[in-house]
Amino acid sequence: MIKAKVAELLNSTQYLQEVQVKGWVRAFRSNRFIALNDGSTINNIQCVVDYKNMSEDLLKRITVGAAIKVKGTLHESQGSGQKVEIQVTSVDILGDADPEEVKLTILSPKKHSLEKLREQAHLRVRTNTFGAVMRLRSKLSFAVHSYFQNNNFHYVNTPIITGSDAEGAGEMFKVTSFDLKDIPKNEDGSINYKEDFFGKETNLTVSGQLEAETYALGLGQVYTFGPTFRAENSNTSRHLAEFWMVEPEMAFCDLDKNMDIAEDFIKYVLKYILDNCQDDLAFLEQRLANEDKAKPEAERSPMALTEKLRFVIENNFKRVSYTEAIEILKNSKPNKKKKFKYIIEEWGADLQSEHERYLVEKHFKCPVILFDYPANIKAFYMRLNEDGKTVRAMDILFPGIGEIVGGSQREERLDVLKEKMAALGIDEKELWWYLDTRKFGTCVHSGFGLGFERLVQFATGMGNIRDVIPFPRTPLNAEF
Ligand code: 4AD
Ligand code: MG
Repeated sequence: MIKAKVAELLNSTQYLQEVQVKGWVRAFRSNRFIALNDGSTINNIQCVVDYKNMSEDLLKRITVGAAIKVKGTLHESQGSGQKVEIQVTSVDILGDADPEEVKLTILSPKKHSLEKLREQAHLRVRTNTFGAVMRLRSKLSFAVHSYFQNNNFHYVNTPIITGSDAEGAGEMFKVTSFDLKDIPKNEDGSINYKEDFFGKETNLTVSGQLEAETYALGLGQVYTFGPTFRAENSNTSRHLAEFWMVEPEMAFCDLDKNMDIAEDFIKYVLKYILDNCQDDLAFLEQRLANEDKAKPEAERSPMALTEKLRFVIENNFKRVSYTEAIEILKNSKPNKKKKFKYIIEEWGADLQSEHERYLVEKHFKCPVILFDYPANIKAFYMRLNEDGKTVRAMDILFPGIGEIVGGSQREERLDVLKEKMAALGIDEKELWWYLDTRKFGTCVHSGFGLGFERLVQFATGMGNIRDVIPFPRTPLNAEF
């Protein structure tokens, strides 16, 4: 007898083999056909029960949601819809699921909205949609590691609790062990952080970049892949308060090379799932097509899911300078007709997501890399160009997603970096260790950050970022 996962059995042709499988009942029809799923694949295995030889009591306990162990023999299926099935010799109930209670949950076999599923995030992974999304997420993680490991990058773990708040990537969550009802104060009434756990003010990290830079200037090429936190009050379908970011950092690498690597990396991970996740992708493609049918024509996605992935893999991303992009936007119809919420008047304007989406979805109709942004709308560490007003920044914009990557060539010149910091009021003492890297063997270096959930959104076609992470953290929501 072999103990197997459903995925293995469905691919097996070892008919008459004795098998054992454990999983959760998805459906039980006519006291005869159990659809069993164990999470190894989107597909259920059909287990055919000989109800005449089974006790009434046992049959009653084979209910949707129950965990069971099935033993039987593998057969070529008589019915349509599956290649193999198990002719059951015994069923053990491992964990019951009371039908009356199941009825009140999203496990009940009917269509539930994504909103409803979110309220039961601990159970939603047992649905086809979330099973598929989370398996894909897992494969994408693996592909992230394999891309960098195959290309001589070292994986580094940067701190989650940080003592510097200089990056300015977003609002921070504070970390403290103070009793909030009794916070030590200084004489002037300010908080006395010297008495806090770390003896200083600390936060959850918004990005591992600055620490990763120090490691790149020693290990050559590194990447982080970890959770990051932003306390922005943005309730959109693209923002989480806790999200995972992939941040490679490369020594002796300029912005052009940085863009090459980012593009190559994204194409690799998307190709990986196209090659390795066909069943889940086929399901999600159909899901998206069904969802689209309910939408007005203009809001439907122009391509099927896998077609869209293939399109990204097979075509060059369009590289456009910020200055060119502003010209395009200024002359665009929605700008002239004042359809944008933020009208683009002149060079220097920060781009809003409506502008990014116009460029990607309407104008270029492909992924776009924007580069050389105005210095004053970007972070202090980006390398200043010869023109003195733009920096070597790049953002990658994706259809339906907007910004998926933000990166730059870093300012490696100590004097320029110090000037920048002074102008922005960033205390040199805070970042003494960062400045050290520019004193001891500084070099041209670059990196970027990819929002992992936005990548998963793109790969799965899920419209809301809350549906691509197991337990989303958003304003006013930290259940589970
Ligand atoms: O553009 P950002 O803020 O860049 C940085 O943090 C740099 N330090 C990265 C680097 O150069 N190493 O964030 C990078 C990416 C964005 O492009 C976006 O995909 C994602 O992180 N991101 C978010 N994803 C989900 N929820 C949020 N609140 C996000 N904020 C940024
Ligand atoms: Mg950004």
